[in-house]
Amino acid sequence: MRLSLKTKFTLAISLLVLAVVTLVSGLYLARLLRQTLRQSSDNANFVAQQVLDACNEAVQQAAERGDAPFSLGAADVRAYVREAFDDSATLNSLIESDIGISTTIYGISISDLNGVVLDSSDATERDKKIAMRPSLSTLVHAGLTEQLRELFGAPQTYEFSLPFQLTLKPNDTQPIGNIRVALSSALIRAQIAPELISAGYVALAFVLCSTLLAFVASSIILAPVSRISAQLDRISAGHFDSEPVVARSDELGAVSTKILGIGKQLRDVREIFSALRENLDQVMTGLEDGLLLFNPEGRAVLISPAAEKFIGGRPEELRGLRASEIFPEGHPLRAALNFEGDQLGPTEGKEVTLGGQGGPQRVGLSVQVIRERGTRMGTLVTLRDAESLERIGSQLQVSERLAALGRVTAGVAHEVKNPLNSMRLWLEVLKANMPIEPEPQQAVKMLDSEIDRLDRAVKTFLNFTRPVELNLEESDLRGLLDEVLDAARPSIAKAGLTLQAELPAEFPRALVDQQLIHQALSNLVLNACYFTEPGGRISVGLRRAGDYGAIEVSDTGKGISPEDQKKIFQLFFTTRPGGSGIGLANTFRFVQLHNGQIEFESELGRGTTFRILLPLARTAEAPVGAGRDFSQPFAAEKR
Ligand SMILES: Nc1ncnc2c1ncn2[C@@H]1O[C@H](COP(=O)(O)OP(=O)(O)OP(=O)(O)O)[C@@H](O)[C@H]1O
Ligand SMILES: [Mg+2]
Repeated sequence: MRLSLKTKFTLAISLLVLAVVTLVSGLYLARLLRQTLRQSSDNANFVAQQVLDACNEAVQQAAERGDAPFSLGAADVRAYVREAFDDSATLNSLIESDIGISTTIYGISISDLNGVVLDSSDATERDKKIAMRPSLSTLVHAGLTEQLRELFGAPQTYEFSLPFQLTLKPNDTQPIGNIRVALSSALIRAQIAPELISAGYVALAFVLCSTLLAFVASSIILAPVSRISAQLDRISAGHFDSEPVVARSDELGAVSTKILGIGKQLRDVREIFSALRENLDQVMTGLEDGLLLFNPEGRAVLISPAAEKFIGGRPEELRGLRASEIFPEGHPLRAALNFEGDQLGPTEGKEVTLGGQGGPQRVGLSVQVIRERGTRMGTLVTLRDAESLERIGSQLQVSERLAALGRVTAGVAHEVKNPLNSMRLWLEVLKANMPIEPEPQQAVKMLDSEIDRLDRAVKTFLNFTRPVELNLEESDLRGLLDEVLDAARPSIAKAGLTLQAELPAEFPRALVDQQLIHQALSNLVLNACYFTEPGGRISVGLRRAGDYGAIEVSDTGKGISPEDQKKIFQLFFTTRPGGSGIGLANTFRFVQLHNGQIEFESELGRGTTFRILLPLARTAEAPVGAGRDFSQPFAAEKR
């Protein structure tokens, strides 16, 4: 049983008071008993003395009347004394009246040396032998426990006796018998009982009062403790006070102030911790790699959201499990892991192919054991999508190649422009001075058109490489798509295609340059029109992918051959008669400028799907890749 501090305090004080009251009561009882017994003894002595005097007087009166014993033999002397007592009215009335002197005396008798009663306050006792009773003085001088046992045990009779002697001849004193005063233990007890009862009541009242007082006092004294306890409860629940709950200058006040200080420190630590956690969560969410961190006991403490697609279990369900439980027997990654008992051993750059719904997936796996001064501190498992890495690498290569090519050819184009202008001028001069024959005229015409073509190409190229100033504004992608489709509707109709647009009613805004994105989307839709046979379908969709808006443009057209897939984003690459090959190069550049992504899937004879990811307004400032929804990964881009 758990007692509260208040109960313990009250109990301790009550027990202390009870002990003191018991001690005082014991002393009082001992004193009361001794006093009562002494008083009874004194009374008995007084009564016995009076009776003794009366006996002597009775014998003296008999002698004065001329009475004498027949002989000095014991029997004659006894008979003489008895007659003297019987004749003495004083003695008899004294014996009667002395009974009332004390409430504890219940009989007075005079007996001879054999204990046979000569005279008694109880007439029935006369001439009967009464055995000697325990002496009162033994009880008076007994210890407290003995006295208590005698008085509060079975009723007992005690005796106080005085010897009675007779002087018949000078110098011849003869013992005759004893004056015996009988006292009852029950009467003595009855005398002290009322005092004991009232003393008991006083003691009880005293104990009860002190218990009540102790309770009230402990409530007052311990009230700040419960306030401090409530303060601690609030702190552990994450609420922090600004003022101490006990505003006093004593120890409790100091404790409360110190707790307040600890609370502030805790709040700071919590804030730092939650900021760190948030950062960590953000970092983890942004990671394409699946990470699993195990503590020294081998239990998973941190699992990145991306790990789900490799291990096939939700991170929140796997947290706290052992590696052997996360990768049980039969798990596709189990064979590649190096188990040392229940823990994982180090593994470097292994590759495993997982079979899944979307086809086989190549996964790079490594396990690092983190040690500090030889002690294992944890284990880090890294799972990497090998294919997407390669894909990102090749995408990077494309942009780098384009950028490098752009830089070189922009310089070349600029240098080509001036000679081209002067060539045109000289051609004009040549035209003016030309003979009218058809052949030279034809040659000049050809030269003129070729110079025109070259001029157009140089201009286009210079246009393409000119830095674009982004005019970012929060835009409604849905509205933007509507505008693009409205503008493209005549081309779609002309190509004999149907349009299917799936646009959500509500969509978060994105931070984009509307003109550039309009152009990029138009290029996709127009390409779909050009490369799809009449009767085909163009589908346009918009959905959310984490912190990105994903726009898809699909067609049921002729598709792109695997070798062309590598080139479609290159400037001037075209398979369309009359096409310039600028559309997709521009689209790629514009999407890149927005920190977005462009992907596509295509199958010859079945169609092509282009997908553009644009950061939504809320996270437009966030680094590329942050907060992407990995629960719906895009299918691998094939080139
Ligand atoms: N939806 C599509 N279906 C099939 N092939 C496509 C599709 N979109 C693009 N292509 C291929 O990519 C090439 C490059 O496209 P791009 O838009 O850059 O140039 P273009 O359409 O040929 O000319 P323009 O510069 O006038 O747009 C196309 O010529 C075509 O081979
Ligand atoms: Mg095009």
